[in-house]
Amino acid sequence: MKHQNILVLGGSGFLGGHVVTRLAATGRRVTLVSRQRQRARRLFLLPMVDVVQADVYDPTVLTHLLAGHDAAINLVGTLHSGGGNPYGAGFARAHVELPRELIRACQKAQVARVLHVSALGAAADAPSMYLRSKADGEAAILGQPGIEATVFRPGVLFGEDDRFLNLFARMQRFLPLVPLAGASARFQPLSVLDAANALVTALDERATFGKRYELVGPSVYTLAELVRLIGQATHHPRAILPLPNALGRLQALLLEWLPGGLMSRDNLDSMRVDCVASGILPGIDAPELLGRAGWHPMRIEQFALDQFVNGAARTHFDRWRARAHR
Ligand SMILES: NC(=O)c1ccc[n+]([C@@H]2O[C@H](COP(=O)([O-])OP(=O)(O)OC[C@H]3O[C@@H](n4cnc5c(N)ncnc54)[C@H](OP(=O)(O)O)[C@@H]3O)[C@@H](O)[C@H]2O)c1
Repeated sequence: MKHQNILVLGGSGFLGGHVVTRLAATGRRVTLVSRQRQRARRLFLLPMVDVVQADVYDPTVLTHLLAGHDAAINLVGTLHSGGGNPYGAGFARAHVELPRELIRACQKAQVARVLHVSALGAAADAPSMYLRSKADGEAAILGQPGIEATVFRPGVLFGEDDRFLNLFARMQRFLPLVPLAGASARFQPLSVLDAANALVTALDERATFGKRYELVGPSVYTLAELVRLIGQATHHPRAILPLPNALGRLQALLLEWLPGGLMSRDNLDSMRVDCVASGILPGIDAPELLGRAGWHPMRIEQFALDQFVNGAARTHFDRWRARAHR
């Protein structure tokens, strides 16, 4: 069965924008639900995409919105919350209560197919509130009566509009050196385009129903190696100053108070476990998911070259477009 009418929560975000674009490109009709419609304005002109502003936490609203759809995709996620045990109220609301309400609403509206985005390393005993709440979110989604769900656990995602590589590019442009917490933490980054493609490919694949997938790229790097790679690609290679744990936490505490949410102490806690494939769950090359699509995940070195070297002229143009609010 081809799922044709898709309701998307969290579609205004980084991964969501690419998922919605890919859904539209494959001829699906999409309803993107956002708490603030303007956040999705770059998607307004996509054919067959309807952007709706609504309170996603209101179960009646959710059930009403789901009518006429045959699948739902939940990409809602936040890196920030107050504290708590096992996690703060912000994480509980966005990562656990919302998936639970979404499943109830899908059951009422008889929408059986659900895709849910969690995070690599989600576990009840993980070192961060973010990862612990993501684990409870998965439990709220999988194995529910009348629901055919697939859960995705992406590693760190990179792309033209990411916050990760672009942050390190900016830091190296403006700072004489990069003070880096978690310098030896390991990551297996994946292109956001590949992650979006994986989700959309899985939508109609029966073999993925009831399963969890880790979405990771082809290679593993330490954070310091990634920062060096971006420094070289941008022609601003800076010395890296690895911060000891106490100083890293102090830096994260200061950044928590700044606008933009660059880093938090909970983000640092997440980095205490390597953000790489576990080898226990199927990886991105799981044959039943991606074999047919002839999958070749993009290498981060290739992306850095395209983005920061070949794309330099276009980036300049984009800055003007952004200033004109286009
Ligand atoms: N980016 C990565 O490297 C990465 C890695 C691993 C896992 N993930 C997971 O992938 C998903 C998408 O990530 P992303 O990078 O695209 O995130 P993002 O750009 O921050 O977008 C997240 C979306 O979630 C919604 N949202 C945020 N906080 C919310 C809250 N408290 N309540 C309700 N809705 C809220 C926002 O929608 P509105 O504001 O429009 O309502 C936004 O569109 C998330 O679940 C994230 O945890 C991402």
